[in-house]
Amino acid sequence: MDGNGRWALGRGLPRAAGHQAGAEAVRRVVEIAPELGVAVLTLFAFSADNWQRPPEEVATLMTLFRHFLDAETPRLVENQVRLEIIGRRDRLDPLLCSAIARAEAETAKGACLRLRVAIDYSGREAILSAARSLADLSRPSLDEALGPPVDLLIRTGGEYRLSDFLLWESAYAELIFARCMWPDFTGSDLAGAVQQFRARDRRFGTVPAAAPAAAWLD
Ligand code: FPP
Repeated sequence: MDGNGRWALGRGLPRAAGHQAGAEAVRRVVEIAPELGVAVLTLFAFSADNWQRPPEEVATLMTLFRHFLDAETPRLVENQVRLEIIGRRDRLDPLLCSAIARAEAETAKGACLRLRVAIDYSGREAILSAARSLADLSRPSLDEALGPPVDLLIRTGGEYRLSDFLLWESAYAELIFARCMWPDFTGSDLAGAVQQFRARDRRFGTVPAAAPAAAWLD
């Protein structure tokens, strides 16, 4: 969800206003995702590297996450959305941790959409920690210890990077890089991305069932 800061600066507003508008975009996308056939939606809200931002911005984001969880939980329950926060918890404020625990417990039965929000998340750290957890033999593979494979990965804000997001899970993800800033991302942008995704030929390293004649030999 890149571009909150630039969205705000372009309007002469403080960066915090961009994050606030970003939260509205989250609400829109979560609402429309199930209608588009999306079963799992993972949003990258705060990376492990984002701690390096100015302390005031970090504090603004953490407060925004907590308020969002408290304010949105009833709507998530109503829309049958199951919320799950991924990433480290040990560096988060205890108040935010309690809000997460409450929201996760209250939405646990949601069956329409699995909404995962990554906070203090690092794809590399997640792989390392999953690899360490294999040692207790409770999980047979990294695939099980990490999240579900990503089908479609969308990055807004005109940057062409993964920035440590779901690295293992995105091995065969279809990538879409959108130029719009995250607060401008709408339900129809998501619908357009899903449509593009459906038109992609996903081969997973294989040859298509009906392989076209080897035109390149001519
Ligand atoms: C990256 O854009 C965005 C973030 C680090 C924060 C993402 C947070 C939200 C969308 C707020 C709401 C989220 C939830 C889950 C309630 P940037 O600030 O780096 O933008 P820039 O590259 O234009 O500076």
